[in-house]
Amino acid sequence: MTIRLLEPRSSEILDPGPIVSDPGFDRDAIWRYYQSVRRTTEALCAPLEIEDYVVQSMADASPVKWHLAHTSWFFETFVLGLGKSGQAPVNSQYAYLFNSYYNAVGERIARDRRGLLSRPTVADVYGYRTAIDGKIEEFLDRADEVELARVRATLVLGLHHEQQHQELILTDLKHALAGNPLRPVYRKREKGAAQGGVSSQVGWASFPAALRSIGHEGDGFAFDNETPRHPEHVASFALADRLVTNQEFLAFMEDGGYRRPEFWLSDGWAARTRNGWGAPLYWELEGGRWRVFTLAGTQDLDPSEPVCHVSFYEADAFARWAGDRLATEAEWETAATADGQPPAGNFLESDRLHPAPGPNDGARSTFPRPAQLLGDVWEWTQSPYTPYPGFRPTAGALGEYNGKFMCNQIVLRGGSCATPRSHIRPTYRNFFPPEARWQFSGIRLARDV
Ligand SMILES: [Fe+2]
Repeated sequence: MTIRLLEPRSSEILDPGPIVSDPGFDRDAIWRYYQSVRRTTEALCAPLEIEDYVVQSMADASPVKWHLAHTSWFFETFVLGLGKSGQAPVNSQYAYLFNSYYNAVGERIARDRRGLLSRPTVADVYGYRTAIDGKIEEFLDRADEVELARVRATLVLGLHHEQQHQELILTDLKHALAGNPLRPVYRKREKGAAQGGVSSQVGWASFPAALRSIGHEGDGFAFDNETPRHPEHVASFALADRLVTNQEFLAFMEDGGYRRPEFWLSDGWAARTRNGWGAPLYWELEGGRWRVFTLAGTQDLDPSEPVCHVSFYEADAFARWAGDRLATEAEWETAATADGQPPAGNFLESDRLHPAPGPNDGARSTFPRPAQLLGDVWEWTQSPYTPYPGFRPTAGALGEYNGKFMCNQIVLRGGSCATPRSHIRPTYRNFFPPEARWQFSGIRLARDV
């Protein structure tokens, strides 16, 4: 491999493309993939002022600066193996600051105190990123085939990990900006409002009862929690052919949805009461009309856009109010894999950073694939996040990546408008606690047939 200088930092979001979502053993392809992911992370920071990098709005959200450093620490620790005997880390203090939750790797600063890290500075953290980039390039240049084979899978994992943090940078930043009374604009939306036409009618895509194969298979990248592929009996069901819209959620609200306990799970009612919920996160009533905070600033609520920033509890209550239910993750995956099409939808690369109205009635096909399954908003399922039959976490410290969170969380599917296109798959299992609302999370209805 020829050593080349890294591309200069810019504000361009780079799509590494589906071909390199697993770049095999081609060093140049790995390096191009690595650079496109790393540069995209930095491009997301281009609109920021220096003060924006440090804010931590709640324990669940991390400062942008922490994300930038933590993703570098991941490569340093798990790919380069620095910090072990004889191999000096870039900075011996960084492991304590930027380890997220890996108990096997050592102690760390409490999660809710990441916002106290005014030092290292933003410039120091960019310097850290540059140092790690240089070491990765050096490694790719000198590693023999055996070494490359040993590390390649972890390097690819590190890139998917960084793509997860790209989305978290946006959701955490949105939460922080929304907490500022000035409601700062992250970036004006160049593309303009999408011309929606949704849609009074919901269509239903029906699927017969069958023994379905669920989970990842093949050579491409997947997280350990998507495996093993296994059979599941899925009873006949129907899935709504589009996402629930703001207009439909408003109808739930106007019908007293937040005040009527008959629609709510016990824990959900408690969460709604404890948090004073009366609308989705980021909705504000101004002079009798609903406005919504977005990364492009506060705007009038568009009734045709998918409802977003709702908890599992709100999604579940809405579904009960509508006389339907949320899908199981096996049902969702059955629909999403029905036609074998590659992922298409409103992802990070569309640069909208906000869910878009679905196609209008005439343009939607109800079979085999409902609209908006991928992108726009993560769809709450009714499935608890538990291991698939025969699941084995990755060996070593990286076994802590997914497996230890398989308790008290709910699976979401499909990716969002902040998810990189090359990061999502129909078998991808995201998970959040049922009370979480700061992700781009929304609702699709399902029903028995
Ligand atoms: Fe992480």
